Amino acid sequence: MNIAYPASEFENDVAAVEGFAQLLQTGFENPEGIRGTVRVTIPEHPEQSFIARYSDTLLIERHDMDRDTDTQVIIPIATIHRIFNEFESLDWRDPDIIGTITFTGDLSFANHLARSCIRPSNWTLARFRSAGRLHAARGYRDLTQIEYLHQPTQRQILEAMAKSRPLVITGLEPSPPCRDWSLDKLAERYGDAVVRVRSATLRQTMAEFVAELKAFEANPYDNMIEGFVKPYTEGAALPEQMWADFGPLFFEREDFIPPQLWLGSVPMHIPTSSLHRDPLTGFLLQVIGRKRLDLYSADQEDLLYPMKSYNNYQPCWFKPEAPCTDLYPKAKDAKCLSVTLNPGELIIQPAGWFHQVYAIDSPNMSVSYFWRY
Ligand SMILES: [Fe+2]
Repeated sequence: MNIAYPASEFENDVAAVEGFAQLLQTGFENPEGIRGTVRVTIPEHPEQSFIARYSDTLLIERHDMDRDTDTQVIIPIATIHRIFNEFESLDWRDPDIIGTITFTGDLSFANHLARSCIRPSNWTLARFRSAGRLHAARGYRDLTQIEYLHQPTQRQILEAMAKSRPLVITGLEPSPPCRDWSLDKLAERYGDAVVRVRSATLRQTMAEFVAELKAFEANPYDNMIEGFVKPYTEGAALPEQMWADFGPLFFEREDFIPPQLWLGSVPMHIPTSSLHRDPLTGFLLQVIGRKRLDLYSADQEDLLYPMKSYNNYQPCWFKPEAPCTDLYPKAKDAKCLSVTLNPGELIIQPAGWFHQVYAIDSPNMSVSYFWRY
């Protein structure tokens, strides 16, 4: 212990590390029976460092600290305090958090631990519960056709949302100008706009990102190896200067949380977003290429194996693109509503619908908004 360190703060730090370890243990799930070890080093309090060992449960060990581990994580105490205080809303992709942590070794173990220490708020739990009840009462799992509305009024949209019914809206042109966007047009009009590409934790200008994307598109996907970094913006914040061209639609800008950009190239067999659900109503505007969305009603929760540790959205253990029915036997009874979204169309997904998204065409661009209410 550094004797210059104030004792009270040290106590507080110890409590934070203890709380952090408990969050990891109580949130840990391991349905796939993965085995491995992660050394978690806290530089300010080396004696509080620990090795997390994957078993059916997560074991926290403080012996043989010099042994080899699959993954090494160095996390400052300030970040542990932040995790402990913000686990209901924390976004791991936030550079102020991820940028403070050093990872080496197999990153999949670190990702697994990162998921284990977040939790849903009571508000989120209540949203999912009420969606589940409503979808069950209305028999939404048996829907085979999504509803289309051509140039609807705001009132029609509010009615559909009140019934938690997904819908596709057509006839948006010419305002905003959803059609005829291309990579060249984006680079020309928004070349200087700064996009934070989350998957690469990079900030790039639109011109740079488009140039990279075109170079990537010139290479066939055959060259890709497992674990490649998708040239995809993964819901990066939509640059301000693009807001006017890409909605938001039907409601005021203040009614939505800031829009997100999904631009890039992802092969059809890899989902651009893997199976999850959101506690807010999502608006997804398709701009370039087509996307396919596979929707599952909220009352099918027990068939899809959603993770118990999550906060801003709830991912599922079950992967429809590589279904493992030995581990997830109930998933074979899940019923999916599949929708193809064309450029210029907007899908509204009420809170609680599970969804998995694929890019049918590359390049592909969508803009999403979450309605605040
Ligand atoms: Fe989503």
